Amino acid sequence: MAAWKIPLSDLQLGTEEREAVDRVVESGWLTLGNEVAEFEREFAASCGAEGAVAVANGTAALHLACLALGVGPGVEVIVPTLTFVASANAVALSGGRPVFADSIGPDDLSIDPADVERRITPATRGVMCVHYAGYPCQMDALLDLCDRHGLFLIEDAAHAPGASWDGRALGTIGDAGCFSFFGNKNMSTGEGGMVLARDPQVRDQVRLLRSHGMTTMSWDRYRGHASAYDVVRLGFNYRPSELTAALGRPQLAKLPANNERRNALIERYRARLDADGVAASMPFRGQVGSGHLAVLIVARAEDRDPLRDALAGAGIQTSLHYPPVHLFDHYRTAYGHATGDLPVAEDLALRIITLPLYPTMTPEQVDAVCDTVAAYFEGAP
Ligand SMILES: Cc1ncc(COP(=O)(O)O)c(C=O)c1O
Repeated sequence: MAAWKIPLSDLQLGTEEREAVDRVVESGWLTLGNEVAEFEREFAASCGAEGAVAVANGTAALHLACLALGVGPGVEVIVPTLTFVASANAVALSGGRPVFADSIGPDDLSIDPADVERRITPATRGVMCVHYAGYPCQMDALLDLCDRHGLFLIEDAAHAPGASWDGRALGTIGDAGCFSFFGNKNMSTGEGGMVLARDPQVRDQVRLLRSHGMTTMSWDRYRGHASAYDVVRLGFNYRPSELTAALGRPQLAKLPANNERRNALIERYRARLDADGVAASMPFRGQVGSGHLAVLIVARAEDRDPLRDALAGAGIQTSLHYPPVHLFDHYRTAYGHATGDLPVAEDLALRIITLPLYPTMTPEQVDAVCDTVAAYFEGAP
């Protein structure tokens, strides 16, 4: 691993996670059992949801949510282009067509409801919104347009565990909410995902599809609850393991305190950058989310890469969230996209930098990042 002085992200794993793994190893049962059931119950309760279905990763969560909500050939789903490619891939893997929508702007990078509305066609069945960096999308407007046009709403809440909008947990507001527990997320199990859905039939479909469309599991047969199974729909092996579910339980317990810490660090970044008067700012001012990413937007695109180089030179790791999905080679070729199709997101993508952020980051480390940013702009051409 690169020896960054300040890495982009870091995990908080400790005694509780070690004990959780030991407990599973001692149990002798490694897949889809009690730990998965308990993790699902605890996650649903933490969100005020009626039920949750754990899956192998966040992409699987999105894929199964799409399938359970009827995405297939001839169906269009509107997705933001400024997201991780998995959001769009989930629609395409389901046989549907992802139709890309633009971002609102530099103060709010999430999907623009007005652009969503413009892209609705007779084939549109739903919208997938992404709570970018863990901040709620414009939910009032999205719920209203989905309601008016009879569309489903999937929330890609990969960045947003523990965040809420209008007193409701993100991921519980639309027809389905999908989470990722990948190794850099606010709660991490290495690989892992979760689907929330209000409608029990949608949850049942996700449960069925995560294990080959089989009507009973090895766990049911081991416990003597079943002795045979049928296959009633073409499904996948998207099962979570007991090990990842067991890791998820202490990670979930730590989430509120960790999110609070992340938000405090973002506010420190913001205050320092404002005070320094640099030609860059952080979006989502005045909003509270999960604190997943500390995003900086430079005023001039030509400063972006030299600033990243200056930070790397000081041992500070940065990243980019995200290159617009419609400009990836596959999406250009398969869907005929070209530069200029989604101008707001394309402009933002040239100006964004993700700065280091993790719950164990110290205020002094935030200051060290800001010192380097300020020094860059003092000497910038
Ligand atoms: C916005 C978004 N959606 C979906 C995913 C996919 O999750 P996973 O990597 O667990 O498959 C990720 C993260 O990796 C993500 O950031």
